[in-house]
Amino acid sequence: MNEHHLIQQFLDVLEAAKVQMEMGKKPKVKFFHQALEFARLFADKYHHFKEEYLLFSLLAMKKKGEIDGQIEALRYSHEQGRNLINQIANALNSYKNGQEVATITILENLASYIAILKKHLHQEDHVFFLMVAKEVTAAEQQELAEAFQREEAKMDEKFLAKMSDTLIEMETLLV
Ligand SMILES: [Fe+2]
Ligand SMILES: [Fe+2]
Repeated sequence: MNEHHLIQQFLDVLEAAKVQMEMGKKPKVKFFHQALEFARLFADKYHHFKEEYLLFSLLAMKKKGEIDGQIEALRYSHEQGRNLINQIANALNSYKNGQEVATITILENLASYIAILKKHLHQEDHVFFLMVAKEVTAAEQQELAEAFQREEAKMDEKFLAKMSDTLIEMETLLV
């Protein structure tokens, strides 16, 4: 899925921030604001929403309970991601004020977020989407694509360009 490329790019820039933090550097607060925006708007609202409400539901129906455990695990990691992002958001004010505990909190939540999402993307790309290609008929794929488009149309037309810019800005903020 093409959207995974952007999420992968996001994880790479988060990883760079994580490495800097492990060496005692403190990324700018603005970097984290941008990261929260990307995680909440693109990863979650835009991408995970379509998976959870359209794709997973269709597959669960097709496989009649056979893959419910796998779907539950994928949903759970979306949920974990949201929680970790909220933890980072909650620590940001104290981070801004130089509190060392907040720096540690952000680092550990960042590390968990990267690890969970990396595993998640791999699982979707290598297991789940192959299943979709095999199990979902051409007509259903077409319906799914249209449902995706209806969701995508709800966003501002500049949304994707803005999200790409956010990633570029995050990279420049780390330098
Ligand atoms: Fe997902
Ligand atoms: Fe995904």
